[in-house]
Amino acid sequence: MKVTVFGVGYVGLVSGTCLAELGNQVVCVDIDAARIERLLAAEIPFHEPGLSDMVRGNVAAGRLSFTSDAAAAVAHGDLLFIAVGTPPAEDGSADLSQVLAVAATIGGQMEDFKVVVNKSTVPVGTGDQVEGVVADALQQRQRADLGFAVVSNPEFLKEGAAIGDFMRPDRVVIGCDSTEVGQRARTLLSRLYAPFNRHHERTLYMDRRSAELTKYAANAMLATRISFMNEIANLADAVGADVDAVRRGIGSDERIGQSFLYAGTGYGGSCFPKDTQALVSTAKLHGLDMQVVQAVERVNQAQKSILLQRVVERFGDDLRGLTFGVWGLAFKPDTDDMREAPSRVVVRGLLERGARVLAHDPVAMANAREQLNADLQDHADLLTRLSLCFSPQDAVAGVDALVIVTEWKAYRSPDFEALAQAMRQQVIFDGRNLYDPAQMREAGFQYVGIGRRSGI
Ligand SMILES: NC(=O)c1ccc[n+]([C@@H]2O[C@H](COP(=O)([O-])OP(=O)(O)OC[C@H]3O[C@@H](n4cnc5c(N)ncnc54)[C@H](O)[C@@H]3O)[C@@H](O)[C@H]2O)c1
Repeated sequence: MKVTVFGVGYVGLVSGTCLAELGNQVVCVDIDAARIERLLAAEIPFHEPGLSDMVRGNVAAGRLSFTSDAAAAVAHGDLLFIAVGTPPAEDGSADLSQVLAVAATIGGQMEDFKVVVNKSTVPVGTGDQVEGVVADALQQRQRADLGFAVVSNPEFLKEGAAIGDFMRPDRVVIGCDSTEVGQRARTLLSRLYAPFNRHHERTLYMDRRSAELTKYAANAMLATRISFMNEIANLADAVGADVDAVRRGIGSDERIGQSFLYAGTGYGGSCFPKDTQALVSTAKLHGLDMQVVQAVERVNQAQKSILLQRVVERFGDDLRGLTFGVWGLAFKPDTDDMREAPSRVVVRGLLERGARVLAHDPVAMANAREQLNADLQDHADLLTRLSLCFSPQDAVAGVDALVIVTEWKAYRSPDFEALAQAMRQQVIFDGRNLYDPAQMREAGFQYVGIGRRSGI
């Protein structure tokens, strides 16, 4: 089938490439001409395991191409996917300007029937807005005779495991209405996604508004589990219990399940923080106060500072003369995404208290440098005490403590003897509970996890 994808970010590039891998003819278009240039030179603009080879293979096979020519891109696809950003506006609502700009482009350029498929995460009712913008543009061109359908097809992939998630989805949600064009769109999409339904039907058809809400509800539920476990962890610390034992104790209940029950330094990334805020904002517009989701976000904000709190409890508020190693800067492993990363709070907090910081991340160093420079642009003096290191070993040389923020595999089984020797003081603040507290104590470390005080 002929597919066009607007936006070559994490979602657009992965979706477009995977759809090409399934045999479709895919054109990816972006307004960021530099990004398109890089892709034409076979350079992937972000880290995503397995993506680079898949892009190259599909470009070589002639199924995948990149352009910044929006008119040509609209002409190509029968299915036009919107996968552009929906960042938070000042008030926490989703900024729809990129989505609506694509809708205007489509309405301004289309010459035959098109199915507009919205993959961006958008508030309930955005499908109606997109429909309105396309219809207005057609009206202005006096081409209201051209038919089109707008479908909601939210994306559930996780950065770091995006290809597997896209190719083996738990479900594909398709929201379309029952009009004639809506049903035509449904037929085309069911053909597109047929390869995922060979073993059993994974596609869930519903109305457009329910599809839009499903995406926010899913992210809010996952964020809720994280914040809930972080609250339990903080209580475990206070009462001398071990949150990891509690996690296993409740996760074995099949009504609860094992996933997303890990306590840590809070969630970050481009989705949970903005999507929970956008959900609250949508509810407000309808006179509803989403108290659970608001609390989830509040707990998360506080949790991002939990490591700093533990550092201050141990070393005091004045950290001048002390050096801290930081392992992990990306908001989670297997990505170089620094959006809302808890590491930004940790690094800044350490620097503000006068510490020197040696930081490492296996892949996010370039983005981290850019992001931390931007975060601290008005505090150049702080930046002079920050060093980004080439290896995890470099980041622990002579440090008074190691702070683990992201659970990269490379940090899971270090040589603890070498680590102890490299450090000036053998103190570890583990924001991801990577190690066993008892073993760490035996190895001579003072080890502070999240919710694991009983283990010390
Ligand atoms: N990142 C994730 O893990 C994830 C997962 C599921 C859903 N989502 C949702 O998918 C959407 C995209 O997220 P992302 O992380 O891929 O965004 P991103 O910021 O990585 O990429 C967005 C891309 O869209 C391009 N763009 C902006 N306006 C454009 C236009 N008019 N025409 C063509 N291209 C345009 C930008 O230049 C950029 O390359 C968001 O709504 C997000 O909430 C993201």
